[in-house]
Amino acid sequence: MRLLLGFVALSLCVYHADATTGATILTSPESVVNQTSATLSCNITNPPSPIKGNHWMKDGTVITKTRSESAGSTTQFTIETIGNTDGGVYTCVFETDPISQSTIEVKTVPHVKAYKDSEHGNENDKGVMACVSHSYPPPTDWMWYMVKEDGSNMAIANGTDRYEIKSQPNKTYLYISTLNMETDMGDYICQGQNELGVASAKIHLRVRSRLAALWPFLGIVAEVIVLVAIIFIYEKKRKPDEITDDDDSGSAPLKTNADTNHKDKNVRQRNSN
Ligand SMILES: *[C@@H]1O[C@H](CO)[C@@H](O)[C@H](O)[C@H]1NC(C)=O
Ligand SMILES: *[C@@H]1O[C@H](CO)[C@@H](O)[C@H](O)[C@H]1NC(C)=O
Ligand SMILES: *[C@@H]1O[C@H](CO)[C@@H](O)[C@H](O)[C@H]1NC(C)=O
Repeated sequence: MRLLLGFVALSLCVYHADATTGATILTSPESVVNQTSATLSCNITNPPSPIKGNHWMKDGTVITKTRSESAGSTTQFTIETIGNTDGGVYTCVFETDPISQSTIEVKTVPHVKAYKDSEHGNENDKGVMACVSHSYPPPTDWMWYMVKEDGSNMAIANGTDRYEIKSQPNKTYLYISTLNMETDMGDYICQGQNELGVASAKIHLRVRSRLAALWPFLGIVAEVIVLVAIIFIYEKKRKPDEITDDDDSGSAPLKTNADTNHKDKNVRQRNSN
């Protein structure tokens, strides 16, 4: 039984290799590690069909300028300067039927950037800071530190105090569950590490008081109060003029005056009767 399974597995492997490459490709160098420039080259022997051309890909995306219709069995691609984001998996592709391809890894030390250099949150709210890495290989380890007043870095452990750290290979988040104005304000450092080294970035966190968050609202309220006061004072000043100008449409007290006058008249009339 075990022998049969082994045989099935073996035949699947061979079949897989035949379907995708069907040829031997020699790559040079095998990988590029921490270099400032590099020339990648591939050399195919025993192509499964005549070669119609070749091109290179980076992380699965075709590098357009490398497209060639050469029938040659070798192809080269030169990276003049290997920057922070030039690391990755490079693939040379010979256009045969089926296609033949092989990969060369270009590795750099990590490059870490803060999502935002400066973050702010309101007192008692949840705070969040984030860092990303666009380098290859992605960091295998992420760390967060808080810069203390004496300049030393205090490592932040996941799940302690109000801290939570969530990390993906190329991204890390630090959450602070309830921001405190006294203790949380300051500089934080995120640090990514891969097999070639470490890199870090700094983020400044500001915590605003709840009251500060209310200022815009209080400003509007104050504005409304002042406006109402102005209108009130203006109306008060205007009223006496109006009364002397216009007797008929007088206000309620005037009407009652008119009524009492009328009543007086009636009374007088009755008296005269
Ligand atoms: C490609 O490989 C073949 C056989 O291994 C070798 O003879 C030839 O010199 C190589 N060509 C280049 C350009 O490296
Ligand atoms: C991070 O990796 C994921 C997949 O692992 C990818 O989809 C995403 O584009 C990457 N983000 C960055 C910023 O490199
Ligand atoms: C931190 O702890 C939380 C909850 O226990 C967990 O979901 C998360 O994956 C942890 N993060 C890291 C970087 O270990």
